[in-house]
Amino acid sequence: MFSEKELLLVPGPTPIPPFVERAMSRPVINHRGPAYEQLFATLQEKLKKVFQVTGEVFVFPAAGTGALEAMTVNFLSPGDAVLVISIGFFGDRWGEIAERFGVQVTWLKFPWGEAATPEAIREFLKKAKSPYKAVLITMNETSTGVVNPLQEIAPIVKEAGSLLLVDAISGLVAMPLPMDEWKIDAVAAASQKALMTPPGIALVAVREAAWKFVEESRMPRYYWDLRLARSFQSHHQNPYTPPVSLLFGLDAALTAILEEGLDQVFDRHRRLRDLLRNGARHLGLEPLVSDDRFASCSLTALKVPEGVSAAQLIQTLRHQYRIEVAGGQEHLRGKIIRISHMGWVHESDIHLVLAALGQILTKGSSQN
Ligand SMILES: Cc1ncc(COP(=O)(O)O)c(C=O)c1O
Repeated sequence: MFSEKELLLVPGPTPIPPFVERAMSRPVINHRGPAYEQLFATLQEKLKKVFQVTGEVFVFPAAGTGALEAMTVNFLSPGDAVLVISIGFFGDRWGEIAERFGVQVTWLKFPWGEAATPEAIREFLKKAKSPYKAVLITMNETSTGVVNPLQEIAPIVKEAGSLLLVDAISGLVAMPLPMDEWKIDAVAAASQKALMTPPGIALVAVREAAWKFVEESRMPRYYWDLRLARSFQSHHQNPYTPPVSLLFGLDAALTAILEEGLDQVFDRHRRLRDLLRNGARHLGLEPLVSDDRFASCSLTALKVPEGVSAAQLIQTLRHQYRIEVAGGQEHLRGKIIRISHMGWVHESDIHLVLAALGQILTKGSSQN
């Protein structure tokens, strides 16, 4: 059953602001006409500001996973040696994508719930006989709510002479990621997270200095070919039919983000994280990530107390309170719940989910 009133606190898709919905209800326009070119030109400028990059931002109709595949096939060649730093489910996924394309993956895995440590990465890169072509890393691991210290990791990777490719699908806009400043070569993002737009747009941002690697890659590619996309983008067009209505929405969302100011948007996300973490602790719900430095501003994973069923908790939130939260993935299934605070989420929403959790836990799951 669909409900018009539902508090959507899963880590994507996230709630859509009314101004984004209104923008998407505009009539669809010809994607080969001047009105579209104007829309796409301004969208490009806004995207570059949000990614803080002077290169290009590519727009594809796709889920975020498409953006990971796009980075893989455009920057790497079969047989290339890469280091995949994984701290959870989505880090593993990207490494698997690379393996499918014949890339030689060396894994550097950290326990789920922990961040990658710059020291371990430095040691690992030092030991390599020759530099890795690229290091693949997740900015914000959505399965655990851990954010990696990319500001410290980036210079280590660049010193080692590798490309730095980042999955920021659930991190962009919720936390700082100045691409040019940190010399991050390419970044993947998706519309349905902190960008406050429905699912369906995958984004790949490329730093200008990294473009030559796209030209050099020998990987077969068609849909994801950034060279083709770039030739169309030079006249504000796309190689294939773009998701026009979603782009109206994304444009409205980006306008709001830039008007508020990136720093203010980051602060707002941090405040929501702190509110949820502190409130949850008062209820006796421990965050999975104990160290604030690595606690994501996009989402928070809370450990489910002994004797409480995670599935039951999620069901009760859904049916009695109309609040949607996510459970754990893989071995964390049944052990945690994940609550998003990215995008169009307000303090009142966090108070609501905390109040609901408090009521459920005091009543006891048997009565629900
Ligand atoms: C960090 C991260 N990477 C990749 C993905 C995959 O995105 P999608 O489901 O849009 O393909 C997600 C989705 O939650 C994610 O959070």
